[in-house]
Amino acid sequence: MAKKLPKLLVTGGAGFIGSEFVRQAVAQGYPVSVLDKITYAGDLARLAEGKGQFAFYKADLCDEKKVAAVFKKVKPQIVVHFAAETHVDRSILDAYAATNTNVLGTQILIEASRRSQVERFIHISTDEVYGDIAQGQFHETTPLNPSSPYSAAKAAADLMIKAYVRTYRFPAVIIRPSNNYGPWQYPEKFMPVIIYKAMKNEKIPVYAQGLNVREWLYVADCARGVLTVMERGRLGEVYNIGSGNEQTNINVVNKVLEIMQKPKSLIEFVQDRPGHDLRYSLNYSKLQEELGWKPAVDFEAGVRQTIAAYKEHQDWLEEKVKYLRSYWKKVYKK
Ligand SMILES: NC(=O)c1ccc[n+]([C@@H]2O[C@H](COP(=O)([O-])OP(=O)(O)OC[C@H]3O[C@@H](n4cnc5c(N)ncnc54)[C@H](O)[C@@H]3O)[C@@H](O)[C@H]2O)c1
Repeated sequence: MAKKLPKLLVTGGAGFIGSEFVRQAVAQGYPVSVLDKITYAGDLARLAEGKGQFAFYKADLCDEKKVAAVFKKVKPQIVVHFAAETHVDRSILDAYAATNTNVLGTQILIEASRRSQVERFIHISTDEVYGDIAQGQFHETTPLNPSSPYSAAKAAADLMIKAYVRTYRFPAVIIRPSNNYGPWQYPEKFMPVIIYKAMKNEKIPVYAQGLNVREWLYVADCARGVLTVMERGRLGEVYNIGSGNEQTNINVVNKVLEIMQKPKSLIEFVQDRPGHDLRYSLNYSKLQEELGWKPAVDFEAGVRQTIAAYKEHQDWLEEKVKYLRSYWKKVYKK
């Protein structure tokens, strides 16, 4: 008889990466429950095709009683924690939201997990906790040196988890992925902004001269990496998930414009983001050598699939953009 798979509780499962993880976990046969507040960034429409294949609990991580009630009901064996305030620019405009959810919310979740004796707690952190690096790469042992309120809050959560591992032998693993792109990303993030603006022949805002470098990782590869670590990663460890695909922002815009056959004259350089990290570069050999994961989707193919998905879900995109125009005015200044 096939082995019964453990029950998963996925926080932030209605978000961009979390929803892809839920799709993959459900396809593998895991019993999945999602806990999500459905903030402006959360949307169950991302999981419309999988409706009925997972349980959903609407709850704010910062609401201790609600979180406890979800644990009582679900009795998860594994918690996979994606939920967070995830946008650097928003954290610069309002730093408290990131601290509340990413630090306090994470602590409430780990306390609930500890009380209900979960077997594994998989924390999704970010490469941004390392700060930026002009040359060379970040390893899992690189000291944390965050630059934005968002990445500082993520780093604080990592340290809290590390302390729980040491103090309570809390069974956690920390994952630090690089910049994700792919279908269903909320259109405040760079890739969907470029695609949307190019679709509409609107000016595409690019910070400074577009020379900041990010390591672009296709969302399905990232979610598969999280599943791999969830299943076989060593407790107490940290795993980077990168792609080796380093691109300047201007290269990313040029690639999208080339595929969409749009002119470069759409590019508009705007004032730089305060504290803007210049370059991230992740060494992910630990994940590759220990657990055999490597990225499968190359950049050109990933960007093509992403553009196709946004065209397919254009109504969804338009609905989100309605609420973004005044926000764009605040963050993109000439
Ligand atoms: N997107 C990236 O490029 C990237 C890269 C590295 C790491 N990460 C990390 O991966 C995780 C997922 O990122 P994403 O891009 O999918 O984010 P997202 O913004 O698309 O989704 C976040 C989800 O969390 C939910 N949420 C937010 N606050 C909550 C709260 N207080 N209680 C319950 N639910 C809440 C939202 O409703 C949403 O569904 C985050 O922890 C992020 O820091 C993201």
